[in-house]
Amino acid sequence: MIGTVDGYPVPITGLRCNVPERVLTNADLEGLVDTSDEWIVTRTGIRERRVAGPEEALSDVALPAIDQALRQAGLEGREIDLLIVATVTPDMAFPATAAIVADRIGAHDAGAYDLSAGCTGFMYALAQGYAMLAGGLSRRALIVGGDLLSKVVDWTDRSTCVLFGDGAGAVVLERVGDGGFLGFELGADGSGGPQLFLPAGGSRTPPTAETVATGQHFVQMNGREVFKFATRVLVSSAKQLLDECGVAIEDVDVYVPHQANVRIIDHAVERLGIARDRVVVNVDRYGNTSSGSIPLALAEAVADGRLKKGDRVLMTGMGAGLTWGSALIEWTEDGR
Ligand code: ACO
Repeated sequence: MIGTVDGYPVPITGLRCNVPERVLTNADLEGLVDTSDEWIVTRTGIRERRVAGPEEALSDVALPAIDQALRQAGLEGREIDLLIVATVTPDMAFPATAAIVADRIGAHDAGAYDLSAGCTGFMYALAQGYAMLAGGLSRRALIVGGDLLSKVVDWTDRSTCVLFGDGAGAVVLERVGDGGFLGFELGADGSGGPQLFLPAGGSRTPPTAETVATGQHFVQMNGREVFKFATRVLVSSAKQLLDECGVAIEDVDVYVPHQANVRIIDHAVERLGIARDRVVVNVDRYGNTSSGSIPLALAEAVADGRLKKGDRVLMTGMGAGLTWGSALIEWTEDGR
């Protein structure tokens, strides 16, 4: 799916993120599995990640980001009429985490649902939020991207547990002013599903003592295949969207790729030919936070003053599905 935006302007009017307090360093992981700081840094660029406590669920980590994003937009929770939570680690299978969050912030008139598209979830949710606003169904939407993958990785499997971290981000979308989204490109290749999946717990393989004993409730990944897929789609998705929007790569001021692995980002940056100083990278401090990754990086770019009014921002995510998605947005406010 690809399209440029020709309807009402829909900018981001609030953006904040939150991560759990506990920091887990590569040195800490050396005590858990047969790995080394050197291996992790060389292969992934990750130095540390955040890990939620046993009592924390996704909604607990997301709520501080949501409260702050609403405050920044000058809105009360009750003014939100659409609430989408992009995640593969909801508080529970149902009710939707979005419904839980809507209740906690008093968004009693909001349509609220979760969206599952792996690490690409936030990009899919942005596109949906945009379309609901542009189509006139929503006036003020809250889009949350977040995951607590620490809850579903096997902490004895060194090939996956070193990669992931926990975090969430929230944005408010409103149909006001100028600027905002310029276009989206979204895609999925279900034939690649077995490369990155969580086998049990759904209707295909309901939970049993055996599924628990054989580790089927943990993330399973073919790292090399996902690596090849990721390097390919980060480039192809971005290029297709820029072509569709008639925007040259030199006119992209800030590039926010999914933060999975610094080698994947380096490859995309080189192939796209984008200047290094325009690329946001924070995977070293947070690891791969799945749906939280792009809002976390975007919020950081705003906080450190890199994102300014009028900037063109390109975001591309990819992940389980296998899915991918890009969005191009014209930033509307300094400090947002
Ligand atoms: N510490 C030390 N050694 C390790 C570790 C570790 N943590 N993990 C694997 N190894 C070993 C392997 O066992 C292997 O040993 P062998 O050669 O004796 O068999 C060796 O290191 C090399 O393993 P590879 O898998 O070839 O390593 P590679 O260079 O491919 O890097 C990695 C692995 C980092 C997982 C890489 O493939 C990758 O980043 N893939 C993409 C992952 C990703 O982005 N996933 C998330 C997608 S988004 C979402 O939806 C969640």
